[in-house]
Parts: sequence; C-alpha cells; structure tokens
Amino acid sequence: MLPKPPFKLNIADVDAYLAALRAKPMSPLSYPPPFGQPDRQVMRFLAELQGNILKPHGRPFARLMVFKFEDAAIAEVGKIDVYMEKISSDVTNALQQYSDARHKCEDNGEKPFRSIVLTAQGLRVAKRALPAESVGVDSFSSGMLKKHVLLGDPSDGDQLPRDWEDVYKNDGSLHGMWLVAHATESGLAGACREVEEKGREVIQFIQFEEAKILRDDGGFAREPFGFRDGISMPEYFVDEESPHGLINPPLEQVLMNSDGVDRCCSFLVFRKLEQNVDGFRAFEESLRISLREKELDERDPGRLLIGRYRDGTPLVSGFSPGGEPDGKLNDFDFKKDMGARGCPFHAHIRKAFFRQPAVDRGIPPIQQESAQFIRRGMLFGARSIRDSVPVCDAKAGLLFMAYMSDIGRQFEKLQAEWFQSGDFPVMGVNQLDPLLFGPRSAGGEWSWAERGLGPLPIGPLVTPLGGAYFFVPSMSWLRSPIERLG
Ligand code: HEM
Repeated sequence: MLPKPPFKLNIADVDAYLAALRAKPMSPLSYPPPFGQPDRQVMRFLAELQGNILKPHGRPFARLMVFKFEDAAIAEVGKIDVYMEKISSDVTNALQQYSDARHKCEDNGEKPFRSIVLTAQGLRVAKRALPAESVGVDSFSSGMLKKHVLLGDPSDGDQLPRDWEDVYKNDGSLHGMWLVAHATESGLAGACREVEEKGREVIQFIQFEEAKILRDDGGFAREPFGFRDGISMPEYFVDEESPHGLINPPLEQVLMNSDGVDRCCSFLVFRKLEQNVDGFRAFEESLRISLREKELDERDPGRLLIGRYRDGTPLVSGFSPGGEPDGKLNDFDFKKDMGARGCPFHAHIRKAFFRQPAVDRGIPPIQQESAQFIRRGMLFGARSIRDSVPVCDAKAGLLFMAYMSDIGRQFEKLQAEWFQSGDFPVMGVNQLDPLLFGPRSAGGEWSWAERGLGPLPIGPLVTPLGGAYFFVPSMSWLRSPIERLG
C-alpha cells in the first residue's frame, strides 16, 4: 500500500536517513532505518521514488536529453543493467529532492536535479520486463506514435504525424530520456556533461530539448501566451508553503501500486507543443472587438480560451483579476456557472477538469477526478520574461510533461475524448478545446453561444511537434537485476 499524503517530515531525520543510505549502498526497500514508524515508512517510500513527481523540481533551467541505447551495449549481456545500477545514485529521489529544497538557502541551490525515464522500446532492447501492473500498461507499450491519430495530431500521406520532428517519428530508436535541471545555466551544462560522460559506450543522445521555467513577480510560471501556468499543482508535503490551494489526486492515480519491483514507478507523458503566439494575439484582438460590441469585460480576451485571466483568476463569480490572494486560485468550481455565462464550457481548463456534475453526460464526478494527473511542463524557445510575459523565439512552446498511473484512462481521456468532443462537458456545445483544436470546431470558428459571441474564425494555436510515453522507474527497479545477481 502507498502511504497516505500529505507528508510531514522532520528534516533532521531526513538528512540522517539520506546519510545512512549513502554510507550503506543497499536498497532503500531492504534497509531498516532507525526511526519511528510513520517517518520510516514515508522516508523509505520517498527514497524509492524519483523526484519531480510529488513536487516540481523547481529549477529554472533544464535539458531533456533524448537517447537511444548503443547497438554494442544492446548486444553485450548485462551492459545496460550495469549502467542502470551505476547511474541510480545520480538520480534524484523524492526524499533527496525534498531535502535539497529545504536546504536551498544554505547551499545556494547548487545541486542539480536528475531523472531518467524509458520508453517501452527502451525496455524491450534493454531486455527488461514491461511493468507488471494490470492497468495502465497498454497505451505505454504501444507508444505515443501509434496513438497520434487518436490524439488528434494531423497525419501526412504516409500516415505519420505531419508536423512531428524526425526523432519522435522514429520511435524504434527512441529508448529513453534524461531530465537534468539546475538553478544556473553553467551548472546545468556541468551536470549534463557528467550524464554524457557516464553514458559513454552505453547511450547515444539523439536530441536535446532546452527547457526553461520563467516566473512572474508572484513566483508563478508563465506560458508563452502570457498566462500563469502550474496553478493547479498538487502539493503532497504539508510543511511546504502552499500558496495556491490544494488539488491532490490520490497517489494511486500517479504511481503504480504494485508490491513488486514496479512499486513506486509511474508513467510520464511528454509532448512538444509549439505555440503560435502571433496567432493567439491576433485572435485576442478580434475577440476584444466582439467583447466591446457586446459591452462585456475586455480584459485578457484570451481568458475565454483558457478559462482564467492571465494572472490565474478563474472566470467564476466572486473572483476578480488582481484582487485574489494566490491561495484562492484553485478554490472554486463551476457549480454556480452551470449556464456558462462566466466561463465558456469549452474553455481549456473547463474541458480539462470541468469541476461540475456532468448531469446531461452522466459522467460521475469520481470519473472526472480520476482522470486528473500531475503536470510538470516547461517552456522551449523562451528567452526571458518582461512585464510577466515570456519573450520567445520564433519557435517556442510548451514541453508538456505529466505523471500518471494510467495513460489511457488519464492523458488520453482528456486529449482524445474531452478536448476533441463537441459534446463535452455538455451536449451540443459544438466546440472542441479552442487552444488545442480550435480550427476543428464547427466550421473552424469559435463561438460562445451563451453570450451571443462569435462566430470568429480561429486558426491553429498549438502544433504538436512530437512526444513519447515513458516509464519512470523506481530506485529498486534501476538496481534490481544487479541485486538479484548479488
Ligand atoms: C501548448 C499547450 C497548452 C497550453 C498553452 C496550456 C495552458 C494551460 C493553462 C494556462 C492552464 C491554467 C493554469 C493551471 O490551472 O495550472 C492550464 C491548465 C490545465 N491544462 Fe493545459 N495547456 C496546454 C496543453 C495541455 C494539454 C496537452 C493537456 C492534457 C492533455 C492539458 C491539461 C491541463 C489541465 C488538466 C489543466 C488544469 C485544469 C484544472 O485543474 O483546472 N493542457 N493549461
């Protein structure tokens, strides 16, 4: 059984436990630490789990290092297993991540964050078993490329996703990815060099994605269109500052709940999504004119596509932009807006998590909630931030990353069913998610029937450039074949 969050830990015990683990290179699962029962269980669990899942790594600079295993390493029995064992101590576990965050002031945030994830093809060539869990494995093992039609990515004549970059179209050679993050650019370069050196003769890097988090004065990440992102972020640690409310999916929705070596593993969905910033601005301007004509609120017209003002204020009565304490930004639902006169039914966040009983669709709240997952996206092509808006290169967007236990029941449910349905979250809304699928809504037009707004022509605002489904192994999993041999 997974321990119950939220977790409250004594940092002195955490440090002592981590020191003991370093001194005795044993599996955290088999090592009995000398602490009281509740802390001991939680620390064992956290030391097993990779970081960035329960808590964002928080570093502003990152590199996603996509790799394939070298042919010679695949051919040599045990070579990849030895590599996994060797790098397991470089991977930042959740307990280490927690300790690093608590000591940030003392060591000036100099520690890198490192995580490794593997595709189903990567597991196959490494001759490691696919996860033994009965749920959540099907989508992972088929891979994202085979699902691109379901996900709504346009195909070319060869039935391959038209806009994907070659490296993602060739998923037979896409075996895994390192996520390395640091507080500084030079620190990041050093941490990546170490990963490259240790991987020599075993892995070959086939793509680097440079990633950033750009924060506004309030400490919130901003996405390229200029909206606050990462507001609906779960917090699993009670003594963390939690400025923006709590939306915590149960751990069963995030981690595999097995008793075996798959315990404390997860899946990661990665999508590279290019954002058409000029197109978004142009659409906002045409929307502004319609709002003015109807004497409706002209501020942040793009709020009607997202479902929040730029500063994160939700479009529900009782909330006003600029006036809300950050802690309240998640503390709302759409029950008082069943007529969608405040927030269109088809706004991105309402499609993603509609926070209302879907009476006419008969989808019980439990099913809506059980699709939620942990988002940990970063930006690509973003340079700096000015007046709370990212300054971006011509090619920029979101490196969408989300952790979950069942890709089919969670990510694919949102992406393939809810975002792409004109009958969701209510029948006859006739609009797909305008951010991701606007041009495919009724006649390529955006309307807000409840306010008599539109129709307005809408072009593509987001173009998928590729992605993959990954398995996020636990520490025991990384070390397991070696332990069996020893
Ligand atoms: C470039 C593409 C995207 C952009 C610009 C974008 C932007 C945003 C923004 C600004 C928010 C509100 C901030 C927040 O609640 O944290 C949000 C929320 C959210 N997005 Fe996206 N998003 C994108 C793609 C996706 C995709 C592909 C998915 C899933 C398949 C997704 C799922 C969600 C979910 C689940 C929420 C939270 C809803 C809630 O709990 O209220 N987004 N997104």
